[in-house]
Amino acid sequence: MKSLRGNSITSYVVEHLDPELGPWSTLEYRSIAQESAKAGVRFFLSSVPRNISLPPELRDLECLIVEHLSVEELFQDEKGRVCLLDPAAAVELSPEDGTKFDVFLFGGILGDDPPRDRTSELRKKGFSGRRLGPIQMTTDTAVRVTRTVVQQKVPLKDIPYIDYPELKIDKHESTEMPFRYIKSADGSPCMPEGMVDLIKADSEKGFGDLL
Ligand SMILES: C[S@@+](CC[C@H](N)C(=O)[O-])C[C@H]1O[C@@H](n2cnc3c(N)ncnc32)[C@H](O)[C@@H]1O
Repeated sequence: MKSLRGNSITSYVVEHLDPELGPWSTLEYRSIAQESAKAGVRFFLSSVPRNISLPPELRDLECLIVEHLSVEELFQDEKGRVCLLDPAAAVELSPEDGTKFDVFLFGGILGDDPPRDRTSELRKKGFSGRRLGPIQMTTDTAVRVTRTVVQQKVPLKDIPYIDYPELKIDKHESTEMPFRYIKSADGSPCMPEGMVDLIKADSEKGFGDLL
């Protein structure tokens, strides 16, 4: 077992909780890794089953630390410094949490509608929890919002959001995404590169199979 004590760089950990690692998760994890590198923080993808072979888009990323160990094993001596981002937490994340915690933990779960509270799998391990407002975010959005609050010290309520955006699939059809996103400068929801095309391609199959 490892201890990562003594390394003062803030860590973002996504505990992969799905049995597979499909194209949606791949795009989300890739964008978290790239943005973490730019922000100078570490990104761990933990609990990756040994039988999953990582897609090439994730394999070649220097800024991604892939771990088969769980977050509990990785940060066993520092449990009190780990903050679980939890939609059911009683306390909202604040800029001061950037000094209380060194590790921010997220469920590597594709969103579901209605949400099934799978973050409870991490909650029962006893980490301190913080909420990012009342609306479900994608995992990459939750990481982006957390970084904005704890690194850039922007309070949650001052971040511009778009809730349940409609994406145009073609001339006749659009689809509503059941999540909150950060609003980009051009007014569009901030999503990983390639995600809009993937959503368009997958929307023909029906989201019931995907979320
Ligand atoms: C797509 S969400 C999964 C929510 C999901 N429906 C569930 O079963 O818990 C993935 C992760 O992003 C984080 N997250 C998303 N929205 C959040 C919110 N409003 N507050 C705190 N954390 C959130 C949590 O860490 C969550 O496990």
